[in-house]
Amino acid sequence: MTRIISFANHKGGVGKTTSTHSIGVALGKAGRKVLLIDLDPQANMTDSAGVTEVDNDIYDALTGKVEDIPIVQLYDNVWLTPASIDLASAEMELSAEMGREYILKGLIEPYAENFDYILIDCPPSLGLLTTNALTASTDVFIPLQAQFLAMKGLDKLIRVVDIIKSRLNPELNISGVIVTQYNSRTSLNRDVFNYVKEKFPRSAFITPIRNNVTLAESPSSGSDIFAYDIKSNGAKDYLALTEEILARFEPVNV
Ligand SMILES: Nc1ncnc2c1ncn2[C@@H]1O[C@H](COP(=O)(O)OP(=O)(O)O)[C@@H](O)[C@H]1O
Ligand SMILES: [Mg+2]
Repeated sequence: MTRIISFANHKGGVGKTTSTHSIGVALGKAGRKVLLIDLDPQANMTDSAGVTEVDNDIYDALTGKVEDIPIVQLYDNVWLTPASIDLASAEMELSAEMGREYILKGLIEPYAENFDYILIDCPPSLGLLTTNALTASTDVFIPLQAQFLAMKGLDKLIRVVDIIKSRLNPELNISGVIVTQYNSRTSLNRDVFNYVKEKFPRSAFITPIRNNVTLAESPSSGSDIFAYDIKSNGAKDYLALTEEILARFEPVNV
């Protein structure tokens, strides 16, 4: 079964894009076939992957300007569906469409079998784009910054996931909570991490992603953290987290 995972949190700057991109590339290195879908009008993942010139992006597919989702290959095993700023108007353009929550699901379906994992980088909002991502997904991963107020507003996201689960997509589960930008030397960070593990005993990952400047630098190089600096803590943490994800989703293969 293809795992389709939305990386969602309506708070910006919590590590959605960094996690989607890094975990996707790590899964590809582990031999899994991966499609990364950029669903954020800011197109940060598209830029981070160094993809600049494409004829079409996810906006053209969502709005029916092209029939199929555009897919470009990044590496062996890893492909990307790019986004562009055009996506900013998609929510309004699609707001009156019949079955508007299911558009992305319909676009992914013909390709899903080609991949082991499809990872969707959501925008920092709970609008129609995020609803489309969650309706198309089997799983949600929530990245959280290891800081005071990290959990503030999270009940809203959990409520949206519950509503989508009951009305649109009964398969959906919050199966991963990722603590990012973690500094083990501050007690506040440790407290937040412990609190997250208590609050999400089954879904919190035990590997936190440490605060690591290399993760902030690598997007400007147009490559992933592993190509940029495989020895960095960022690379190490995302590889360890990916092992944990594989152990959770494919217990017999690890
Ligand atoms: N673990 C980390 N340590 C240091 N900087 C990070 C880390 N994770 C992400 N960043 C940086 O923080 C910013 C926000 O991360 P990003 O993944 O873009 O968040 P989001 O997609 O949730 O808005 C980016 O500039 C990114 O490079
Ligand atoms: Mg982002």
